[in-house]
Amino acid sequence: MRTKMWIVDKNEQENHAYPQLEEAAKLLKEGETIAFPTETVYGLGADATSDRAVDKIFVAKGRPSDNPLIIHIGSKEAVEKIAKEIPSSAQALIDRFWPGPLTLVLKKRPGISEKVTAGLETVAVRMPSHPIALELLKKVDLPIAAPSANLSGKPSPTLAKHVWADLDGRISGIVDGGPTGVGVESTVLDCTEDTPLILRPGGVTKEQIEAVVGKVRVDKALLISGQAPKSPGMKYTHYAPNAPLYIVQGSRDFLQKKADEWRGQGKRVGILTTTENESFYQADVVLGCGSRDDLSTVATHLYEVLRSFNEHDLDIILSESFPEEGVGQAVMNRLMKAAGHQIILE
Ligand code: TXA
Ligand code: MG
Repeated sequence: MRTKMWIVDKNEQENHAYPQLEEAAKLLKEGETIAFPTETVYGLGADATSDRAVDKIFVAKGRPSDNPLIIHIGSKEAVEKIAKEIPSSAQALIDRFWPGPLTLVLKKRPGISEKVTAGLETVAVRMPSHPIALELLKKVDLPIAAPSANLSGKPSPTLAKHVWADLDGRISGIVDGGPTGVGVESTVLDCTEDTPLILRPGGVTKEQIEAVVGKVRVDKALLISGQAPKSPGMKYTHYAPNAPLYIVQGSRDFLQKKADEWRGQGKRVGILTTTENESFYQADVVLGCGSRDDLSTVATHLYEVLRSFNEHDLDIILSESFPEEGVGQAVMNRLMKAAGHQIILE
């Protein structure tokens, strides 16, 4: 299949009407798959009410069918057509964080494809804040199922060229709206029990959620390895670059010493650091990923940097580690997954 590409400048459209989106919207209505930017990462969308359309997402990504998808909606009110009950805490979070990077898991209504929810009684739903995503959802006027637009297991795409690299020839089109922004996926929050439960840390932090609804819990599988995660997607290996990745917990000197040891054995070593420390290290490739002073900048560039390591023929990658506070929780969660939980302690 030929994959079309539309280039849309999110800033330069009058009234955010984006006429280039007409064809993409038409193809979505016809049951085709279209990748589009959201404020977190690029999503691969299809009509959430059609089994046939949703199937195409799983085929294009090579995604296991027991891993349910997030439904994207273009207005807060549309959640009532998808979820059966909206607890008051969920409503308060909708009022505060939508549109934005927070996905709520709620009890589902009939009418949504079983393929979207992988047979579960619950459904994950969010209203993205990216102006192109919102306009596309408005033009289509259907709930759109959209996982991240990468091949299953690869880092999520934060640029259209990442989608192109993974899915060219496998999907009907890509809306190129430039870099996404937040860089890590939405926070997934289960609101079906009395105390909300974070299933995946993401763009909205635990602290921000607690400021609205009080105490929230965090899925134990995110904290202790070896337990089955409640969010089906969290059990898969993800984001891994081609070379094995290790997270180093210790000083810069210790990380440099480890790099020197590997290089002494003739290995090609990459280092993942931040702009502050880029000139400190010596290795075959040193990539800075945002600034330690503002972890949201690390989140923005993390997947791009993980993908960039694959352009160099490396034997091993060593990464600095980050404090698990605020968006640092999402950053460390994704890094740990990319590293298959391999840590080197000083
Ligand atoms: O930021 C995002 O959320 C991006 C953009 C495109 O919106 N989407 C995204 O989708 O990350 P995906 O499919 O890559 O991740 C969806 C996550 C998975 O971990 C999945 O298991 C979980 O949400 N999920 C979906 N439905 C669920 C449900 N009913 N119960 C529990 N977890 C669910
Ligand atoms: Mg994904």
